[in-house]
Amino acid sequence: MSEKDFDLEYLSKSYHYIRDRIPIAPKILIICGSGLGALAETLRHPLSILYKDVPNFPQTTVEGHEGKLVFGELSSVNVVCMLGRPHYYEGYSLKQIAIPVRVMKLLGVETLFVTNAAGGVNPSYKVGDIMVIKDHINFLTLGGQNPLRGKNDPNFGPRFFAANRAYDKALIATARQVARELKLAHVYHEGVYAIYSGPNYETVAEIKMLRMLGVDATGMSTIPEVLVAKHCDMTVFGISLITNKCIASYDVEDEPNHEEVLRAVTQSSERLKQFVSGIVAKGPCGCKNERA
Ligand code: HPA
Repeated sequence: MSEKDFDLEYLSKSYHYIRDRIPIAPKILIICGSGLGALAETLRHPLSILYKDVPNFPQTTVEGHEGKLVFGELSSVNVVCMLGRPHYYEGYSLKQIAIPVRVMKLLGVETLFVTNAAGGVNPSYKVGDIMVIKDHINFLTLGGQNPLRGKNDPNFGPRFFAANRAYDKALIATARQVARELKLAHVYHEGVYAIYSGPNYETVAEIKMLRMLGVDATGMSTIPEVLVAKHCDMTVFGISLITNKCIASYDVEDEPNHEEVLRAVTQSSERLKQFVSGIVAKGPCGCKNERA
């Protein structure tokens, strides 16, 4: 993919297509991970746009990922839900994965809420637990891969930018409070997420290494979008739903699989819906419903 594919001129085609079809600018982009799209069902005045109809938009090929944008109101805030995200393991470049984030920035989005299904690396985590992401380890960047590699487009942000405060502390504090109010404290964690390219799940030795490095949950997404959002000065908040316990022993017969991940997501989707709505209702992302 050429660097040009990620710049303002290229993205303006996607921007204009969407801008001409929505009545109100969204303030929050909510990226719904595997099977986590139920949140979009709760939006008031929903308006859907299929990825396949948006020029220059990446598609998604994974079961449980629908491939549509739903614009609407959540807790009186204008949001857009992305149902399904492209992943690196599907063959997309990291730049392509992050195209929707830049397009939504052009449309007026100020805050990114990103959700994912993740394996619990921390042995105390259980299936169905919620981990708010407080930091991450980007194994792709440690290997030289980054969506911001290449010519910088200053229309979006600076060449060099900080990532040490990538996850917004005020929103994490709000999440903690909402977890208490919803009586979710027993399933609530704040931890470190690591991206692993996939599509295979991790080996036993890899899980042991992740534990030594202080990783609490691992998955195959999220960090490219977070970096691009941070680069263009969005406020970022992330949630991992723990869908399986990562296996750190050679004596265990079980193997992680996508069906178990989707099952866990289905069982926890109501909890996650309430949690996200509660945070949006309280969050520092005020509702100024402007024309797009
Ligand atoms: N590993 C990587 N990605 C995942 C996992 C996992 O255990 N569970 C859900 N996505």
